Amino acid sequence: MIGLFDSGLGGLTVLRRLRERLPEADILYYADQANVPYGDKSPDELLPLLHANITWLNDHGADAIVMACNTSCSIASLYGWPPSRAPIFDLIEAAAEAVAERAYQRIAVIATIATVRSGAYGRAIGARNPSARVFEIAAPALVPLIESQAATADVEAAVAELCAQIPKNIDALVYGCTHYPLIDDLFALHLDPRIARIDPAVAQAARVYRAAQTAQFANGRGATRYVTTGEPDSFFLSAPSQRSGRDSRVNVRGSVPRG
Ligand code: DGL
Repeated sequence: MIGLFDSGLGGLTVLRRLRERLPEADILYYADQANVPYGDKSPDELLPLLHANITWLNDHGADAIVMACNTSCSIASLYGWPPSRAPIFDLIEAAAEAVAERAYQRIAVIATIATVRSGAYGRAIGARNPSARVFEIAAPALVPLIESQAATADVEAAVAELCAQIPKNIDALVYGCTHYPLIDDLFALHLDPRIARIDPAVAQAARVYRAAQTAQFANGRGATRYVTTGEPDSFFLSAPSQRSGRDSRVNVRGSVPRG
């Protein structure tokens, strides 16, 4: 079984990419919505959350952990990964590999404040292509808007404001937070179509798929089990397209949401 975690809804974009590659895998989706947003927190706050989430997934039977939170990956890039029986699949390393493969030279990365402060994307891309120019731009307004399911007009205004800060002559924009691909259509409206928009989860899912060819963690019934530390109703109402007859939804404190 594959364990996946994010602070909230952003992990749905990782789940989508994983499902494209591994339809048979059983997946346990853990959303730490009691602590969302992660992006505004300090490393001292984020490190224990990373440890707790990795431990929780190991304790609940994950045979592989697919990171669905860039902010947590950026903390691991500074302080290392917590001990884990299950192998961990990083998002930032996967993104850097995708950027290097396509030889992009001028790359903007939009991410949470914590991810930008860590410099993780600049280091990972620079390690593969030292001549690449990486612009790391914090976008703290977006996660709260997405989590609260704000009106499209408000989200679009925030996207427009953000796009105005992105240098015009870049080759690629990396979504350095898993929440952002949920509003890819709004970025498409405000960015030059010449600029490639990179969802790191695509490269990450390809890595997980390759590993699954020689390991057993993806053999299952294609079931997805969702667990949130937050309000279960709001989580599941926001993810209707992810539902299937085999899905189950349980709040981490034990209550089962309606619907
Ligand atoms: N979606 C997460 C990320 O990729 C965390 C966003 C947040 O909670 O601030 O960084």
